[in-house]
Amino acid sequence: MPDIQATLRAATASGVIPVVEVEAVADADALAEALLEAGLGVVEVTFRTHAAAEIIARIVQRHPAMLVGAGTVLSPADLSRAIDAGAQFALAPGLSRPMLDAAADAGFAYVPGAMTPSEIQAGLEVGISTFKFFPAMPAGGLSFLRSISAPFRLHDLRFIPTGGVSIANLADWLGEPAVAAVGGTWIASRDMIRDGDWAGIRRNAEEAVRLARQ
Ligand code: 3PG
Repeated sequence: MPDIQATLRAATASGVIPVVEVEAVADADALAEALLEAGLGVVEVTFRTHAAAEIIARIVQRHPAMLVGAGTVLSPADLSRAIDAGAQFALAPGLSRPMLDAAADAGFAYVPGAMTPSEIQAGLEVGISTFKFFPAMPAGGLSFLRSISAPFRLHDLRFIPTGGVSIANLADWLGEPAVAAVGGTWIASRDMIRDGDWAGIRRNAEEAVRLARQ
């Protein structure tokens, strides 16, 4: 069984996780190449398009240097599809008991969303300590994250803020010790992917990698 903590460390190592919505399987290669050329070896392919599982499988098979996560995984059925496609980890915007159970049964690296102390407690009860923090900026940004995580200081929580994260606030988030990495669609937006703006995606990814390294 894969080591969940090691997988999550690898997934967050770059400090930045591009969140993507890809409609066309044919775009998977160019997208993966643009990110890898920029030095970004991780991507969260969201189940917000019907092609998600196929995109994941294609990137996993053709771009072994890329660590592929499945995003917006809302049901155990989607989790199974993500695992079958070869995803190495999965995330969701929220937390639900069926998903926690399915991920635990599969021994799979799963990052649920937490936006309240109750969700953090529910995750802790089943051994989860890395959470997606969504929607990070509209919810109140860094000060909100500090407030809700303060009571849990003995639990070494790690967060992946997404939602309104951009190049403008990336450094602030990554300066916070509890932040493992940030995620966001700004690096490779739906429009950029649809328009085939691979050069723009590469530039955004390079900029994000450079700032994250600082
Ligand atoms: C996510 O799924 O993480 C969010 O949709 C990302 O939000 P953003 O579009 O504001 O980056």
